[in-house]
Amino acid sequence: MHTTILAIDTSCDDTAVAVLKDDMVFANIVSSQADIHKEWGGVVPNLARRAHQEKIMPCIDLALQRAQLTMEEISAVAVTYGPGLAPSLEVGVDTAKTLALKHDKPLIGVNHMEGHILSPLLKNSKGNPYTPIPEIEYPILAMSISGGHTEIVQVKKKGQYEIVGQTLDDAVGEAFDKVARMLELGYPGGPIIEEIALKGDENSIPLPRPMSQNTGYDFSYSGLKTACLYKLRDLKKEKELSSFLADFCASFQEAAIDSLLIKLKKACKKIRPTMVLVAGGVSANNRLRQKFRKAMGKFNLPVVFPHKKFCMDNAAMIGLVAYHKYSCGEFIKDKEKLDRNPSLVIGQKNIYEN
Ligand code: KG4
Ligand code: ZN
Repeated sequence: MHTTILAIDTSCDDTAVAVLKDDMVFANIVSSQADIHKEWGGVVPNLARRAHQEKIMPCIDLALQRAQLTMEEISAVAVTYGPGLAPSLEVGVDTAKTLALKHDKPLIGVNHMEGHILSPLLKNSKGNPYTPIPEIEYPILAMSISGGHTEIVQVKKKGQYEIVGQTLDDAVGEAFDKVARMLELGYPGGPIIEEIALKGDENSIPLPRPMSQNTGYDFSYSGLKTACLYKLRDLKKEKELSSFLADFCASFQEAAIDSLLIKLKKACKKIRPTMVLVAGGVSANNRLRQKFRKAMGKFNLPVVFPHKKFCMDNAAMIGLVAYHKYSCGEFIKDKEKLDRNPSLVIGQKNIYEN
């Protein structure tokens, strides 16, 4: 018998619904709000909430239709309850609660970051992994790099996490978005900067690698952002933005990736993992993938990225976590009481041992 999960993620600016049978994806619907937030250069919480409210039910209907299932055939409803934007999370949590109560289904609360970490392990509807992955052995080092998070997490065993290092200020994706806004390139900044950087020279504009001298495993991106702001102001005094835009994008991208790698390498030396999983929106970046593969190759370590469609926010990854929780019977006891938790931290408790 398969476990059939209806999973919902509204943690930020994408309304995402997926249907999984065990770890296999049968429907993966994402309604992006990028066009709504574009003109503001970042996510506007109240606009995000309204768009989620409009899109959530049509996305659920479409996901069930794609999976050719009815609510009666669903084993459990799963939802991201943190971390994320409170007004956004609320819509998903309320909808999941209502559905679980109405159809008398178990309700499963999922940590968004655990979803990202497990996203490289998703399989397609035929049971084949989207990306080849070595046999799982612990410990694993997972790096979650997105618009809201920059974390190195040690996966000690299934469902048991410990944060090794994290950002002390901005997330790396946020830095991409803010630098893109300085350059008037639009939102989200990551893919645009990556595209323009292809034509630039990453060594042309010197930028700092913040925290590289620091002995710990934490990151900081506000210094790089400020350095970009001053450098841009100086360069603009001398020449037209268009004449150095590609070099600027390439140099910034390189500095942002190097800052991640410096800490990842340090963590590998300490933890000695069997493999490295890299997930979250920024893990879609091709230059990053290339540099990570090369650097981890020197440690003889396999590095696994999610399929591109599972890098950005999606609900398939939430369904995968929920499938594991379902098999351990880890359900929300009082469905009415499930509440959003915007600052939920991964590894707060061992969720599989209850
Ligand atoms: O995981 P995600 O969809 O949402 C969060 O949980 O934050 O990540 C979105 C972030 C944005 O900051 C976006 O600029 C960044 O991921 N991103 C990229 C790329 N694609 C998306 N950053 C660098 N290169 C990319 N190709
Ligand atoms: Zn995310």
